[in-house]
Formats: sequence, structure tokens, C-alpha cells
Amino acid sequence: LVVSELARPVFFVGFMGAGKTSVARKLARICGVASVDMDTYLERREGRRVKEIFAELGEEGFRAIETDVLRELTQKEPLLVSCGGGVVLRPENRALLRDGGFVIYLKVTADEAASRISDKSTRPLFNDLNTARATIEGRLPLYDEVADAVIDTAGKSVGVIAREVRGVL
Ligand code: S3P
Repeated sequence: LVVSELARPVFFVGFMGAGKTSVARKLARICGVASVDMDTYLERREGRRVKEIFAELGEEGFRAIETDVLRELTQKEPLLVSCGGGVVLRPENRALLRDGGFVIYLKVTADEAASRISDKSTRPLFNDLNTARATIEGRLPLYDEVADAVIDTAGKSVGVIAREVRGVL
């Protein structure tokens, strides 16, 4: 896959710890295209961290900013975008994703997500395993709804997942 073959942006969705950011980065290196992490982009744009935004504006405030950012990113050049785990919660975002590019759902279990996330303090919504399980369960239909392709990440390295993604693009 070369740059010219990537006609539309590719969005990675899935729960925290699914590997969205690492996979997008790896694939960007392989394909020679740019990757953007939505939360990093959002933090630069807002001049503060995700957890500070949650503390100051609450989840609703964060979600409103997230929608603005998603809208901005769907209007950019073809690129690989790793989305925040909760991006699928708003129907408006799901429509933006569906219309904005190719969406890849990286599937992960709560246990594996927990073992991959080293610093949970940066994730205001990752509290404990049972809550994570319930959250993943609740979001499943939403991830499925927007996904053009689903990739199970269980027990796979970033490199293996990136190659699988390459195969479905
Ligand atoms: C969230 C996931 C985080 C971040 C915020 C909320 C969620 O992104 O957007 O903490 O609701 O699942 P990552 O999936 O990149 O950790």
C-alpha cells in the first residue's frame, strides 16, 4: 500500500488499550503516510490534558470538544487516525465516521486492555476491570455499527495487527 492508494482517511476505533495509537503509528511508518492520535491532537488544540478537561468540564464537555476535533480530522488529507475509545458514543460522531473514511474496529477484552495500559491515571474512564467489561459490552454494538472491518487483537503484537489492517485496506 502506498500513499496514493489511501484515498480516504482510516479511523481506528475500539476500547482503550486495543492498540489504536500503536497500530496507526506502525502502519503509518510502513505505508509512509501520516498518523494522528485524536486525543493528542485534542490536547494540543485545547492546551490541556484529557484528564484536566474531564475534571473541569465533565464528560459532556469533553465529548463536545471531541466531536469538533473529529469533524476537523475528517476534513483533512488522507491519514490514519486513532480515535478516543468513546468516540462512538454520539450518533453524530458515528455518522461522521461512517461518512468520513474507512473505519477499523480493533477488538480487545477488558483483561487484555488492563494489562496493556500502563498508566491508568491518564484515562479518567478506566477505573476497574468490572466497569471496563461492562463499558466494552455496552459499546460493542456501537463499534460494530461504524466498522468497515473488525480485527481481533487478542494475543497479537502491534506488528501482526498492522499487517492484518494492511490486508483489509
Ligand atoms: C475514552 C478513551 C480515551 C480518551 C478519554 C475517554 C473513553 O482514549 O478519549 O479518556 O471514553 O473510552 P483512548 O481510547 O485513546 O485511551
